Amino acid sequence: MWHEGRKPPRSNVVGMNAQLPRNQLGLRTGLTVSTIGTGLWSVAGSEWGPADDRDSLAAIEASLESGVDFFDTADVYAGGHSEELLGRAMKGRRERFVVATKIGWIDFDGEAGRSQYDTVSKLVAGVESSLRRLGTDYIDVIQCHIYFTEPNTPVFIEGFRKLKEDGKVRAWGISTGELEPLRAFNADGDCDVLQIDYSILNRMPEAEILPYCRETGIGVIVRGGLAMGLLADKYDAAATFPDNDFRHNWIDDPEQNQQFLQDLDTVASLRSVVPADQTMAQFALRFVASHPAVSTAIPGARNARQARSNAAAASLPRLSSEELGEIDRLVAPGGGRKIWPA
Ligand SMILES: NC(=O)c1ccc[n+]([C@@H]2O[C@H](COP(=O)([O-])OP(=O)(O)OC[C@H]3O[C@@H](n4cnc5c(N)ncnc54)[C@H](OP(=O)(O)O)[C@@H]3O)[C@@H](O)[C@H]2O)c1
Repeated sequence: MWHEGRKPPRSNVVGMNAQLPRNQLGLRTGLTVSTIGTGLWSVAGSEWGPADDRDSLAAIEASLESGVDFFDTADVYAGGHSEELLGRAMKGRRERFVVATKIGWIDFDGEAGRSQYDTVSKLVAGVESSLRRLGTDYIDVIQCHIYFTEPNTPVFIEGFRKLKEDGKVRAWGISTGELEPLRAFNADGDCDVLQIDYSILNRMPEAEILPYCRETGIGVIVRGGLAMGLLADKYDAAATFPDNDFRHNWIDDPEQNQQFLQDLDTVASLRSVVPADQTMAQFALRFVASHPAVSTAIPGARNARQARSNAAAASLPRLSSEELGEIDRLVAPGGGRKIWPA
């Protein structure tokens, strides 16, 4: 079974964030990261309903205190506010953070499948805006935030290589759920990382993409490990979400609602598999972190409580064969469904 080939987590890094298990972020980045990180999309002004800067900053602080050092954001999250908040948190202690951000979504023309970044200088200028918002002179990981193969791929690759040569980024890659764009980014074998949606509800990456990353040494950053909150087992058929939380589509859109109800059934069946000393969210993160291709998972924490609970999952034992077998019975290996369209 796939999880049996996994080496013990590395904990060879000394420093202020050394208490959580760590993994190499792929074979080429030279970075090691906590096996659980923190995603920072759901800040005030994003598409995740009401949020408060104090809670978001407290989530970052609680993550750090718990041993998390890997943080994921994007230029587009809340119009740059997410990067700015992370910048505020990093002030005077940049070395405690491994920062991943993204570029490509702003002004992406979905119909033409083309981004506004059609020259290397525009791409470099875009990443320099992120550097300013983050208040830093280097980004650890820059990711292309577009999920379709698009004509500007060579611009992104050339721009990312130049930024790396210039010391403005340490590593680069793409956020996608598709193998083809990843292959395009890795055509010369120098794509450092992939960010991908992977969870108990979406095991599709196990079929091709995760094995490809293992073979080629690409570090894997997992988003969606909690399936946007579904795997925290806190919603039911009567759930409601505010208008400015895109999850209201789970209720309002008949097709999505049908899917939501099916997912709730799977979550209900999962309850008997979760050990008594863990929350379902922690169990779901253990599942993700147990895959040998995965370097880190970045659950979106809205507050300090969620951040602490997610970080604690990093220290739990890897899934046993019995636990994995139980999950296999609910969602087949390589099966499930995409939570994100991309
Ligand atoms: N295209 C891309 O590159 C892309 C797309 C999506 C996400 N991301 C990245 O991935 C990060 C995570 O986003 P995601 O979509 O993958 O979401 P997720 O982590 O699967 O789910 C996040 C939601 O789970 C709930 N949650 C988190 N921790 C919890 C805990 N300990 N206990 C109970 N509930 C908990 C919260 O729900 P409530 O809001 O109900 O509290 C939170 O909003 C983002 O912040 C972003 O950095 C990237």
